[in-house]
Amino acid sequence: QKLRILGIIGSLRAKSYNRQLMINAQQIISHMDNAEIEIFEDIGQLPFVNEDKELDYCQNDDNVKRFKQSIEQSDAVLFATPEYNFSIPGVLKNAIDIGTRPGPKNSFINKAIGVMSASPGNLGGIRAQGVLRQTFFAFGPSTGYPEYILPRAGQAFDEQGKLKDAQAEKLLKSYLQQLVNLALKHKNSSPTTIK
Ligand code: FNR
Repeated sequence: QKLRILGIIGSLRAKSYNRQLMINAQQIISHMDNAEIEIFEDIGQLPFVNEDKELDYCQNDDNVKRFKQSIEQSDAVLFATPEYNFSIPGVLKNAIDIGTRPGPKNSFINKAIGVMSASPGNLGGIRAQGVLRQTFFAFGPSTGYPEYILPRAGQAFDEQGKLKDAQAEKLLKSYLQQLVNLALKHKNSSPTTIK
């Protein structure tokens, strides 16, 4: 059975560079015989975290149930996030918080996690990656190190949305291979569940 990687995109923008990057990753993975990426659509439909309501929306909100189930049924989670004001978009932080709640039902526990970011700027959203990683420290030691940065994203894709630069594509391939290896390691090791 193929490794299941859930793709979560931090931008709601239809022509998002991070979405395009995730689709490139999805296409590259589709040529590997041991893994696939399913993209979650879309985190903008999730409610805002409200502890007064979380038992209700976790049981009754279809988007919340679908989100948490998608994470739980995956072997790895791959994020593609923009950088907003040196941090991650609020909508992504909210989605991550929804995924970790309530209480012991942290859907991200024991997932291999990969992080990508794309930005029109020269730093490729690297500061947002730092903030995202900081969030994962709350989940325990289940996160690995793979990361992928796409700077100057405004010039990075052709008309079909494919990465133009062969080197950028090659790096993405090897990055995804690292994530698959990390996910396999997680899958094969006994879970160190934190509850
Ligand atoms: C930005 N952008 C941005 N870029 C960056 O490299 N560092 C930053 O701190 C910020 N800050 C920021 C704040 C807000 C509120 C917005 C809307 C945008 C620009 C951002 O990288 C650009 O809009 C990307 O195209 C967003 O990613 P998507 O939507 O293309 O995936």
